[in-house]
Amino acid sequence: QTVDWQAEDAQRDGFDHYMLKEIHEQPAALDRAIQGRITDDNDVRLEGFPAGEFADVGAVHLIACGTSYHAALYAQQLLANRDIPAQVFSAGEYTTTPAPVRDDTLVVAVTQSGETADTLSSLDIAAERGARTLAVTNVIGSTAARTADDALFIRAGPEIGVAATKTFSSQVAVLALLAERIAEDVSGTVHSDREALLAALERLPADVQDTLQRSPVESLATELRGREEQFFIGRGYGYPVALESALKFKEITYEHAEGFAAGELKHGPLALVTSDTSVFAVFTGRHDEKTLKNVEEVRARGAPVVAIAAESDHEVAEAADEFLPIPDTHPVAAGLLANVQLQLVSYRVADLLGRSIDKPRNLAKSVTVE
Ligand code: G6P
Repeated sequence: QTVDWQAEDAQRDGFDHYMLKEIHEQPAALDRAIQGRITDDNDVRLEGFPAGEFADVGAVHLIACGTSYHAALYAQQLLANRDIPAQVFSAGEYTTTPAPVRDDTLVVAVTQSGETADTLSSLDIAAERGARTLAVTNVIGSTAARTADDALFIRAGPEIGVAATKTFSSQVAVLALLAERIAEDVSGTVHSDREALLAALERLPADVQDTLQRSPVESLATELRGREEQFFIGRGYGYPVALESALKFKEITYEHAEGFAAGELKHGPLALVTSDTSVFAVFTGRHDEKTLKNVEEVRARGAPVVAIAAESDHEVAEAADEFLPIPDTHPVAAGLLANVQLQLVSYRVADLLGRSIDKPRNLAKSVTVE
């Protein structure tokens, strides 16, 4: 008797794909990302960055590509919500048109691999111009970690699937802690929202587990497969999630998907909406009433809407054609939980379509040319 077995299958721990395994590894990855970094008295301790370390920071530039760019967008909002001026740049554009830096600008490169060529060039440019640089990365010893002035590790563990999943969640969790540290150092005070945010981050591994367990997307995928296009909309922390979910969808299903700030729908994209457009709407618990209006707008054009929102949100559940529930939590964490639901949607649709999920056509895990 022979068994058709390959070493690679064993490493997938029984999952059909690395991507699915890595989606399920998110609770453990998030646990590691925050471990030891939140003290009992709600202080944020980042190894290598003692309190006051960022007191001189006047502005933050976040530079990244692909999924990491979406984590950087999240960080920009986290910092802005703590009154820290922050801008996000696509690394490929930053190298073309570098933004002016001042002595007090902190340039943060967000890069899972630490080897993305555009991001590394951006770091070099920022350093040449006199900015302080920091790499937020998953890989100890990577070029970004070695070339930046400092490095902060996301501790997600190795990610094999080309489509980034657990590293996105871990990046956002660590960037949330970094934003808290910077804001406290700069202002000398602790924001009134900190306690709720940190509590939500500590609960996040369990909330992701919960989300994974009751995800109903298996049957949904059959229904969703084959629509002409898929739009993802969100505002606030739901916006980077909409962009990230659309990227995931296009990467692994090869179907047309676009993410939009919900408020931008009316400024053009609405012209494309028909009954053959699936619209995924992300609700984080903040500014939801506006996104509900956008849902009404697309449904009036016949588009079926899948809403992702807190399980207790009956208003959203009733306004949508399909409802993917997430545990009730802080908006920062809600975005990540919605993202988990949408990772599973993309995965299931791609699986039904028989796509090469772990190694999508034309894509590489790490892009080392500009
Ligand atoms: C490639 C990968 C993406 C990734 C991007 C940035 O395009 O396919 O999944 O988000 O590079 O990678 P980095 O390692 O810099 O985060």
